[in-house]
Amino acid sequence: MAGLVVYFSHEGQNSVNFDIQNVKKGHTRTVAEKIADITGSDIFRIVPTEPYPADYDAVCRRAQAEYEDNIHPQINVPFESLESYDTIYIGFPIWFRSYPRVVASFIDKFDFTGKTVKPFCTNEEGEFGMADMELENAVKTKGGKVVKGLAVRGSDVDTCDAAIRKWLQ
Ligand SMILES: Cc1cc2nc3c(=O)[nH]c(=O)nc-3n(C[C@H](O)[C@H](O)[C@H](O)COP(=O)(O)O)c2cc1C
Repeated sequence: MAGLVVYFSHEGQNSVNFDIQNVKKGHTRTVAEKIADITGSDIFRIVPTEPYPADYDAVCRRAQAEYEDNIHPQINVPFESLESYDTIYIGFPIWFRSYPRVVASFIDKFDFTGKTVKPFCTNEEGEFGMADMELENAVKTKGGKVVKGLAVRGSDVDTCDAAIRKWLQ
C-alpha cells in the first residue's frame, strides 16, 4: 500500500541559525519532498485557507495565539479519507516547541485507525520539543499509532538524505 507525505512549511521570513532570513523554499518542504522521492509516496502540502503572513513577527504572533487558544485554522483537503495509505509521514516546523496548529486541523479531519504515522520536523534546536508527544496523543485519539520521528535542523535540510534513509530503515 502506498504512503502519504503530509506537511506544512512556512515560506517568507524565517529563523535560520537564529538569524531572520527570507526563505524561498521552506525547510520542511525540502525534507518532505525528499521523503516522497525516496519512498515513492504521494505528497500533500497543508495550506490554511487564510495563509500565514510572510513577516516573521506577524507569523509568530498568529502562531502563538493559535497555540495558546488551541485554534485549528481552516484548511481544504482534496481527499476524504486515508484509506489508500497505510503509512502517513507528517512533517512540520517546530513552532513554540510544538507543531503548528494547522497540523492539528489535518488530524481533525481523518480517521487514523490502522494507520502508522511517522513524524518529521525541522527546527533550530531541541529536536521535537513536545511535538512528538503531543502528536502521538492526538493521533492516538483518532485510532492511529505514531513511531519514532526524524528531526532535522533547518540549516541542514539540503544535506539530510543519509539521515532520512537511516530513519526509514
Ligand atoms: C512562529 C515560529 C516559532 C518557532 N518556534 C521554534 C521553536 O520553538 N524551536 C525551534 O527550534 N525553532 C522554532 N522556530 C524555527 C523553525 O522551527 C525553523 O526555522 C524551521 O526549520 C522552519 O521550517 P519551515 O521553513 O518548513 O517553516 C520557529 C519559527 C517560527 C516561524
